[in-house]
Amino acid sequence: PQHGKIAFRAALLHLLEDPAKESLEQSYQYIDDGILLIEDGHIVALGEYRDLSTQLDDSVVTDMSGKLIVPGFIDTHIHYPQTRIIGAYGDQLLDWLNNYTFPEECRFADRQYAEEVAEEFFDQLVMNGTTTALVFGTVHKHSVDVFFTEAEKRNLRMIGGKVLMDRNAPDALLDTPETGYEDSKALIDTWHNKGRLSYAVTPRFAPTSTDDQLALAGKLLREYPDVYLHTHLSENQNEIEWVQALFPDSKNYLDVYDRHGLVKPRAVFAHGVHVCDDQCGRLAETGAAIAFCPTSNLFLGSGLFPLEHIEKQGVKVGVGTDVGAGTSFSMIETMSEAYKIMQLQGKKLNPLKSLYQITLGGAKALYLDDKIGNFTAGKEADFVVLDLQATDLLSVRMKNCQSVEEKLFVLMTLGDERVVSQTYSMGSPIYSRDS
Ligand code: GUN
Ligand code: ZN
Repeated sequence: PQHGKIAFRAALLHLLEDPAKESLEQSYQYIDDGILLIEDGHIVALGEYRDLSTQLDDSVVTDMSGKLIVPGFIDTHIHYPQTRIIGAYGDQLLDWLNNYTFPEECRFADRQYAEEVAEEFFDQLVMNGTTTALVFGTVHKHSVDVFFTEAEKRNLRMIGGKVLMDRNAPDALLDTPETGYEDSKALIDTWHNKGRLSYAVTPRFAPTSTDDQLALAGKLLREYPDVYLHTHLSENQNEIEWVQALFPDSKNYLDVYDRHGLVKPRAVFAHGVHVCDDQCGRLAETGAAIAFCPTSNLFLGSGLFPLEHIEKQGVKVGVGTDVGAGTSFSMIETMSEAYKIMQLQGKKLNPLKSLYQITLGGAKALYLDDKIGNFTAGKEADFVVLDLQATDLLSVRMKNCQSVEEKLFVLMTLGDERVVSQTYSMGSPIYSRDS
């Protein structure tokens, strides 16, 4: 992390609470000519340039006037081993897994292959402004060593885990309840709470685990109460029918996990496109979260996530790219697709709500809002420097924007990784677009 006092002059924008819960005006703070003050990798203060500059030595101020600084983005569901199969043609979930995903994940038996992809993956994350993610590995234990090693090099706050899968996949990708348990335990002992890293127990989804395996996943969570649980839930109709056939005496899809103690705070269920109110009730009362994955839900034809309905029931919701079923590493592009998903349901998605979802909302879903998600004093200084004029079209369109809300909406609608000028981790630059 960075040492000593530094400051950045730019427009500053961050969220203080959920705009869907509080009044929009009170949910955010925007400073047109601001100073973000950082010491030893943590936020000290933010305020108007004219108020704070008098207390600052010029030498510590980096002038980024004209740019917009926002908190680092938080991707609550992504698969690093699927980086090289993004955009694979033609299939919905179960065929897509068999035809593209499983063959690619077999390649991770080779540690060197995993190292190459992990590096490519993190390059993509930081060029898109993502500084924290909840990440699937493969079934191979070393896939997770490789992942955490790369995260540690870049000093990123990351959560990951080894896939647990003991049936319904190619033999080369299967573990057993016992080896899955032992490998996960060893990885937790090595990596969990090491610096900025945390571990997630990661059964792929109900169809690829036996009850025995899910029971041992539950045992791990009881033994290590602050580790995460990361899996998939109710994404696709054929998947849901398959789960009902495989677990005939479960009340519903979530219940397959619930019966083994997997539904709890720090549990994140990707998708949940088709969950009923019973399942929402359980998610809400246990403090578990759903990762809404817009580009993936559209690309695999999974369905339209009913965000408002699910949030109204008190369920925590983060947003995920779900690469490689998702088609972009960019949380900005992801929120553009989220907007369209809401449009198709006759709902609006305010751009400040969108920014909330990929920053503070994601941090809350991951129980990390004491550390990241906005610029409250004391938090880790992970942030992104955005260029609202990054493309010709953006420059032209911005001429017609007045409020920050309008600028942010246009940025999300037209933007992609080109709007990310720089990415900072704990006050240190880890990516710059023009170098
Ligand atoms: N369900 C089980 N595995 C996967 C996966 O790799 N991607 C998605 N989108 N859904 C899944
Ligand atoms: Zn996924």
